[in-house]
Amino acid sequence: MGFSGLKSHSTRTQFKMFIQWAFLISSATLISAGSISISERIVGGQPANISEVPWQVSLLKRGKHDCGAVIFSDDIVLTAAHCVLSNNLKKYSVRVGSSIANQGGQVVQIASIKRHDKYLKIFGSSFNDIAVIRLKTKLQLGDSVRPIPLADSAPAGGTPALVSGWGAIKHKGVNSKTLLKTTVNIVDRNVCGKSYKFMTQDMICAAAPGKDSCQGDSGGPLVVDGKLVGIVSNGKGCARPFYPGIYANVAVLKPWIEDNIKSLMYESK
Ligand code: ARG
Repeated sequence: MGFSGLKSHSTRTQFKMFIQWAFLISSATLISAGSISISERIVGGQPANISEVPWQVSLLKRGKHDCGAVIFSDDIVLTAAHCVLSNNLKKYSVRVGSSIANQGGQVVQIASIKRHDKYLKIFGSSFNDIAVIRLKTKLQLGDSVRPIPLADSAPAGGTPALVSGWGAIKHKGVNSKTLLKTTVNIVDRNVCGKSYKFMTQDMICAAAPGKDSCQGDSGGPLVVDGKLVGIVSNGKGCARPFYPGIYANVAVLKPWIEDNIKSLMYESK
């Protein structure tokens, strides 16, 4: 190899370095753009009228929307245990029959709350994240206020499911004033277990590119074929690739839900 060979070698090295540098810059741009505007955008939602998801409840804390919840009957609603950690019942109330956060519909006080006895938040996971709430007065049922039956079995991976709420439109974003809905797909539990180390039978995962539930949606409904299959519980960020949303698995928790509703009914208001 002569002089010219050496020269072309160093030119090639420089060219290779330039390509590597250009690739690095463009992929860094892609990643940051993705995390802001693509993967966490609105969590893929569309506005929904409450009559499309009449089982949707807004759980209020000191009069303001704090979590979602779900109508089980005219005086029982379900939510996530982590939404009702205070024993001061006066803090909480529910709003039903309105598409807009913090206005309209019926607002009802709470008579009692039962959190799952084995609810536990540890290592970033929420186990048995469910609670039953008995209302002080009965809801007036109608086209925009309706109970939803509990699922008997967890749907298979790939099944589309509807989730709704007034939660954040992106991770660390502000809550939505209008009710939003989106469709996510149930994720096979073995697949989801690869993303989250602590995945137990009381959890079910759902995800879709750019779509997810998010902070403020917790306690709200995940629905397949008109049945409640999940309660919004947890997740790493919102709509992040490889990190599905985690929901309390209603079919598995059904015996607990039914037993504890019975015991709430025996308590006096
Ligand atoms: N823990 C959140 C809440 O309190 C819900 C998080 C749902 N996250 C998700 N990526 N699906 O509202």
